[in-house]
Amino acid sequence: MSDFAGAHEVFVSEEGLTVTKKLNVAMIGLGFGAEFIPIYQEHPQAQVAAICRRNEADLNQVGDRFGIQKRYTRYEDVLADPEIDFVHINSPIPDHAWMSLRALDAGKHVMCTVPMATTIDECRQIVEKVQQTGLKYMMAETVVYSREFLFIKELYDRGELGKIQHLAASHPQDMDGWPAYWEAMIPMHYATHVVSPCLGLMNSRAEYVSCFGSGTVRDDIARKSGNRFAVETCHIKIQDSDVTAHIWRFLYDVARQYRESFDVYGTRKSFEWTLVENEPHVIHTAKLPEPEIPSKIEVPDYAHRLPEPIRKFTQSIQDAEHLSFIQGGGHGGSHPHLVHEFVSALVENRDPWPNAVQSANWTCVGICAHESALKGGEIVRLPEFTLQ
Ligand SMILES: NC(=O)c1ccc[n+]([C@@H]2O[C@H](COP(=O)([O-])OP(=O)(O)OC[C@H]3O[C@@H](n4cnc5c(N)ncnc54)[C@H](O)[C@@H]3O)[C@@H](O)[C@H]2O)c1
Repeated sequence: MSDFAGAHEVFVSEEGLTVTKKLNVAMIGLGFGAEFIPIYQEHPQAQVAAICRRNEADLNQVGDRFGIQKRYTRYEDVLADPEIDFVHINSPIPDHAWMSLRALDAGKHVMCTVPMATTIDECRQIVEKVQQTGLKYMMAETVVYSREFLFIKELYDRGELGKIQHLAASHPQDMDGWPAYWEAMIPMHYATHVVSPCLGLMNSRAEYVSCFGSGTVRDDIARKSGNRFAVETCHIKIQDSDVTAHIWRFLYDVARQYRESFDVYGTRKSFEWTLVENEPHVIHTAKLPEPEIPSKIEVPDYAHRLPEPIRKFTQSIQDAEHLSFIQGGGHGGSHPHLVHEFVSALVENRDPWPNAVQSANWTCVGICAHESALKGGEIVRLPEFTLQ
């Protein structure tokens, strides 16, 4: 006897007990993607049924390390496997869109690392396919599940910040030494780490943007990417709101430590990100005597919101291997929150956060921003399908 609760099968056993079938995820891409395997393995409602990467020796190494038997070198074989409920895609950026579309065509739910795609048309196709199929799509944006974001959101929801007056985010990133496909990337085409906290905090959409390019990258990077700007700096007009956000990005040829910062300016309190990694962030409180306005704070962890077996993964930075843990501080303990959000959405048959339309809006901000920069800062409107 079986019944469906969303995508999650619930059985009543012969003894009359309610037994839920664990959701089967296939992990696609095992660089950064491998970081998520132990989290799924310990999540009470999910299991890693298969892994996929093109290099067989590397595939076997990961399979042996985590004790996973089903190993695929061909993505199409994953999609043909009826046991797989959803794919978690961590392939290189140019592969996100086509892999997401094929998975949806094969009837699989999709969790995909950032960005959703690199063109507006691909974002539109994914949104339409999700709407047609009723399958779930979530862009696995780490920033909006970081402990800093969860802390700021809690302050905002409690009214402690007052009215939001301005938002700012930066993502300086020196990509020399990373996989070569980064050399072909445009800074604003990987902007979701700065867009998402601004739009996520107020749970609103970007309506239009204006972006300027600044400085120049060296000739070989400019040739490979088709982009000359070293820095791209953009203002976002937030829909149905008087608030604007300012974001900036670079990938090459600017001297600065890695940073994914988010500053929030409210009427009562403001949050400012530390200038140097691992130093305390600052809260400014209005109307105090001047020296007392800033106070350095320790941001709490939000592991208590997770099922007990995966709580430890908000702090597992020291065991991690991927370079993004060194440049990026372990993404604020976000990985188990991402896993739990998508698994919960499937179990509860609800949209994940961010859903496909929100993911498209967050991704298209960067695409529209680069278009604006090429036109000298002209205002570019977000496509209608991202504003629904
Ligand atoms: N904070 C974040 O959100 C964050 C941090 C790091 C990386 N990422 C994203 O994760 C993705 C992967 O990054 P990475 O550094 O691990 O890259 P990588 O190039 O080291 O690894 C990519 C993986 O994808 C696999 N792959 C590529 N094409 C495939 C195919 N056709 N079929 C099956 N597997 C395929 C490769 O074998 C490899 O395992 C990137 O898109 C990156 O943007 C996000």
